[in-house]
Amino acid sequence: GAAARDGESRRGGPADSPFVRACRREPTPHTPVWFMRQAGRSLPEYREIRANVGMLDSCRRPELVAEITLQPVRRHGVDAAILFSDIVVPVAAAGVDLDIVPGTGPVVAQPVRTAEDVQRIRPITRDDVSYVDEAVRLLVTELGDTPLIGFAGAPFTLASYLVEGGPSRTHAKTKALMYGQPELWHALCARLAEVTLSFLTVQIEAGVSAVQLFDSWAGALSEADYRRYVLPHSAYVLAGLAHAGVPRIHFGVGTGELLTAMGEAGADVVGVDWRTPLDVATRRIGPDKAVQGNLDPTVLLAPWSVVETEVRRIVEQGRAAPGHVFNLGHGVLPETDPDVLTRVVALVHEVSARHAG
Ligand code: CP3
Repeated sequence: GAAARDGESRRGGPADSPFVRACRREPTPHTPVWFMRQAGRSLPEYREIRANVGMLDSCRRPELVAEITLQPVRRHGVDAAILFSDIVVPVAAAGVDLDIVPGTGPVVAQPVRTAEDVQRIRPITRDDVSYVDEAVRLLVTELGDTPLIGFAGAPFTLASYLVEGGPSRTHAKTKALMYGQPELWHALCARLAEVTLSFLTVQIEAGVSAVQLFDSWAGALSEADYRRYVLPHSAYVLAGLAHAGVPRIHFGVGTGELLTAMGEAGADVVGVDWRTPLDVATRRIGPDKAVQGNLDPTVLLAPWSVVETEVRRIVEQGRAAPGHVFNLGHGVLPETDPDVLTRVVALVHEVSARHAG
């Protein structure tokens, strides 16, 4: 009946998991934890399965995607899985000629320079990314009560790869286009926002329990420029998902000065990197949003006593927020010892456990 189909009213299941409850600012038995880039090169079982398959190819094989997504769930006991894919997967599906080069990242054959280049980015439908739809459906069945997080890149971060042609430290070409040709900039971001919204909608319809919008490089901008050139496009994506019924997480790196604006863009949860303590971040974001973060990924390379102190501090500072999802401030570094990640999950659960009565 209607109640059984309504994830919110059904007891148990991923919609009632600690992770989804924390995103909704509801009480949880413990602070939920997952790691950005938890599926990937820190795991020997990942390196083995990827040995002879290119990154983009692997994202287009549903069984392989499901297996890689499940690896960190089995190994670490994290509170959520994140779909194995990449932010450039929907852009490739939209017709952009690109590749993901090991050790470098996304590389675009013909960087975007003109209105014609923007026109060539086609809208996408489910059929353009049917392998993602299939992978999500496989995973939702396999995961049972463990929620699956879907994701996409936000317009600014995607635009940066498309305009630079690859990774960039300064985002100089991107900013030159933004300041010099604002109409072209907004046309590009509007296109990318449509692609991102479609990609996230496919994942939600296939059954993901939450989505994360990665604006990894937004921290390169001042707050004024963020509000003028970027926020409207990310807000368009987030508003397009407002009635989809799953929490929306909005994340960027180096965004201490942007946290208020990123919250205003419309997510339910704001990701925070290690530069801003969670209690400070909560004051900037406000009482109506949960926070996610924010262990420095390099701390995982330090002695365990340092890791333990930092984890305890973050769980404590997270209590200032109306909801806290423990995570790193950015992705797991490939050289991380996976056993340390497993211990961090157990420690977060232990120090945050709330006993009834
Ligand atoms: O576990 C997860 O978090 C899910 C998988 C995931 C990948 N990429 C897999 C991947 C996610 C969520 C992403 C998002 C992504 N991709 C972002 C946003 C998150 C962030 O880190 O800020 C960005 C900026 C990208 C672009 C990108 N793709 C980069 C910078 C790289 C790394 C390049 C390198 O080799 O150092 C990639 C490739 C990539 N995406 C890998 C993985 C596992 C490595 C490829 C490989 O294993 O050969």
